[in-house]
Amino acid sequence: MERLGSDRFGGLCVSIGTGIISFLITWYLIPELSNLFLSANLAGKDLNKRLNDYRVPEGVGVIAGAIYLVCLFCIIPFYVLHSKDDVSSTMLTNLSLFLSALLSICCMILLGFTDDVLNLRWRHKLVLPTIASLPILMVYYVTYGNTYIVMPFPIPQLLNVNVFDLGFLYYVYMGMLAVFCTNAINILAGVNGVECGQSIVIALSVLLNSLINLGSECWSEHMFALYLVCPFIGVSCAVLYYNWYPSRVFVGDTFCYFAGMTFAVLGILGHFSKTMLMFFIPQIFNFVLSVPQLFHLVPCPRHRLPRLHPTEDVLVMSTVKFKRSDVGSLGRLCLFILPKMGLTKMTVDEEEQITITNLTILNVILRVMGNTHERTLTIYLLFLQVACSGVAFLIRYQLVHLFYDE
Ligand code: UD1
Ligand code: MG
Repeated sequence: MERLGSDRFGGLCVSIGTGIISFLITWYLIPELSNLFLSANLAGKDLNKRLNDYRVPEGVGVIAGAIYLVCLFCIIPFYVLHSKDDVSSTMLTNLSLFLSALLSICCMILLGFTDDVLNLRWRHKLVLPTIASLPILMVYYVTYGNTYIVMPFPIPQLLNVNVFDLGFLYYVYMGMLAVFCTNAINILAGVNGVECGQSIVIALSVLLNSLINLGSECWSEHMFALYLVCPFIGVSCAVLYYNWYPSRVFVGDTFCYFAGMTFAVLGILGHFSKTMLMFFIPQIFNFVLSVPQLFHLVPCPRHRLPRLHPTEDVLVMSTVKFKRSDVGSLGRLCLFILPKMGLTKMTVDEEEQITITNLTILNVILRVMGNTHERTLTIYLLFLQVACSGVAFLIRYQLVHLFYDE
């Protein structure tokens, strides 16, 4: 504790304490409030259950989001006062960081809930996170304002350039990070527990990364991350308890956007956006694989989640069927390459109708591991997420020395 300093130790205790309290409140309130969602007709059909009228309250991410915000409001004094020995300008900087984070996350919860209620179009899903990220980008501009990237080996040796100023492009990158984080979680979804489970693994990775760096000279950014991530883990664990197979509640787009924006805020204001992106390896893979469907190079059905086997209690890869004439030249290129890479299974019938398995990581897991129970598929995905976080830590703390003089 002495090595860590009493202010950091105090901050750590407040963060963990808030995490526990936020877990307990969310855990208590979800069953109390979920009937309100059903009476407001905020419910979704669980597509992989046999009962036809199995409707589950949807959008309970808003309960988690609201409790998260309340907890963060309550700890503002602790966060600002942990820098009490510093000059008042540092306190003001810390306060503006915290308030802008709250504002962006709050905006995203509101927009996510709007999406759950009104079913927004995909173009809105791209524009809204960009707008919601503006407060943190402005605070980044007036506080750090650093838009330099350090060049990796061998560029400094070859070109004698150590740093490169990305300027305005750096803000474009950070805005895109917010769009990516929010949507990447939302499209790796549809199986009980998967949206929430992946978010918890990413959040635990952030927690570990910040704990590792709490003794370093950039401890202040990591203290900020701990204040934000511990309550997030608390509310998410409570949501997962009810969202685990068989789901009693659905998290909705509200939770996906809330989680994604929290990670974007942590990455940007905590100064570890590259490390954060490495915790998103499965989501990046899923996004890249989904590009042909997302950009309609090949047809994209409303739901791409794996489907229940007609007779057995296992999930099978979901498919989409279309005519060859529905696909342009880029789409045909994808249909040539992806089956060869084993990323989709394609069949063509005698009427030239093409059937492919949907381009998602969940289908790829089913392809590799075979048809499996819904709960087991979630567990496989979570194992993969943990393994990828392990790889991220390896790159961040070991392989990085090969490319940067740290
Ligand atoms: C995204 C995915 C879509 C996937 C959906 C599942 C893309 C482009 N979109 O769409 O392919 O099918 O998420 O969330 O990849 N549901 C379940 N079980 C669950 C969770 C959700 O059956 O464990 C179903 C319910 O009917 C629920 C619906 O999915 O009502 C929610 O879908 P929604 O979040 O509106 O879909 P999108 O985010 O638009
Ligand atoms: Mg969704």
